[in-house]
Amino acid sequence: MANSDPKPTLNVRGMDVYKAYLGAQDQERLLERAREIVAHAPLFSPITAFGKPMSVKMTSAGAFGWVSDRRGYRYERTHPNGTPWPPIPTQLREIWSHLVPEARDPECCLLNFYGHDARMGLHQDKDETDFSQPVVSISLGDDALFRIGGETRGGKTESIWLTSGDVVVMGGASRRLFHGIDRVKSGTSGLLSQGGRLNITLRVVT
Ligand code: SIN
Ligand code: MN
Repeated sequence: MANSDPKPTLNVRGMDVYKAYLGAQDQERLLERAREIVAHAPLFSPITAFGKPMSVKMTSAGAFGWVSDRRGYRYERTHPNGTPWPPIPTQLREIWSHLVPEARDPECCLLNFYGHDARMGLHQDKDETDFSQPVVSISLGDDALFRIGGETRGGKTESIWLTSGDVVVMGGASRRLFHGIDRVKSGTSGLLSQGGRLNITLRVVT
């Protein structure tokens, strides 16, 4: 992990981007923790409120997990299969307290798995209660084109490539910005044996 005084590599519209925050060994360790989460709480394909399956597969750890079905987007205390979510791994709690020491403890660790054709449309994270709390987003595996817009839909956007080990902190006003993943570039990382990308976000829900 990085040293004790974190300095973002770049800032895009208020989002702090820490390029290569995690070295190869930390990425491997984190992937192992993600595998343990998936073993307890299997990945599932959420259904949008419009009845379409999302291309990203998801699961969660922590007191709350994010789910979506025809009843809408929300946080739940249990996986759709009825079991409680596994705990948030210590390695992730350490990343959180290193980068956002003033924030409350994370209550959700959302795992998003992107296969080669997966993407995530522009959206705001707004199912949480307290927008003063940041979202910390960790990228593992193949490169992804991350698009950042404004506080309302439409208007100009900016895009950056996120690579394995990068961490983005969406805090302050940038917490409310539209963002999404346009595409994942196959074969750009050897971390995941089958390829693809894993994004891990830490959130305060209540
Ligand atoms: C998200 O917005 O929840 C995920 C963003 C990403 O995959 O980098
Ligand atoms: Mn989001």
